[in-house]
Amino acid sequence: MISIKSAREIAIMREAGHINYLAHQEIAKYIKPGITTLELDKKINNIVTKMGGICSCYNYEGFPGHACISINDEVVHGIPSKRIIKNGDIVKLDFTVRKDGYESDMTRTYIVGEVEDKVREFVSNTELAMYEGIKVIKEGKRVGDIGYAISNFAHLHGLSVVEELVGHGIGCNMHEDPEVPNYGEPNTGKVLKSGMVLAIEPMLNLGSKEVYMKDNDWTIATDDESLSAHFEHTVLVTKDGYEILTGE
Ligand code: MF3
Ligand code: CO
Ligand code: CO
Repeated sequence: MISIKSAREIAIMREAGHINYLAHQEIAKYIKPGITTLELDKKINNIVTKMGGICSCYNYEGFPGHACISINDEVVHGIPSKRIIKNGDIVKLDFTVRKDGYESDMTRTYIVGEVEDKVREFVSNTELAMYEGIKVIKEGKRVGDIGYAISNFAHLHGLSVVEELVGHGIGCNMHEDPEVPNYGEPNTGKVLKSGMVLAIEPMLNLGSKEVYMKDNDWTIATDDESLSAHFEHTVLVTKDGYEILTGE
């Protein structure tokens, strides 16, 4: 069942999303060589709590962190640990903020220090792929239109699309219907309606699309150890288009 949010629910989700956005802005300053992912995780929790939100990833299906922090070849669900961030790493911070019973979900890939131009372009193209997906959102469009736009852009830039993990509806629950794959065919899948809220989140690899689950039973990484990037916004479907809820 795909829920349609009321004006009241949308107002709360806007707040949850805004806290998430501000927390990303704030944490960006701390993502430097020498800091551990556990220190970042604590910091994120402090920032979000101070703003009146809850880091709802914590204990979600037993997840042992407030944020998913995935480095380089790790795609998603990296567990905060004593791992030290190094110059040249790309760090994905993915966390949900719960506020007054509603969720928001946002991810950014942060570049630490110097990287090759190829890596910078890769990260930037992953963000652009997310916006390609978001731009097609409008009442009457279909879920397949989003995935098609994302994968088309990714492939044009020589990037592969992780297929095992998908975007999703979001509301009172972090994960709601529908699933939003980052691939698809135009004019297929569920029809978008005004008041639906979707998390759009392409995970793109510089090498092959194949991934595996690490021994910790959470973290997904690329088979060929190539870099993976991830961006995510929580987006409201409207009559004329969309509104990004995890924004300014
Ligand atoms: N935020 C992730 C997503 O984009 C889900 C994280 S689940 C957790 O859907 F348990 F790992 F936190
Ligand atoms: Co997320
Ligand atoms: Co998500």
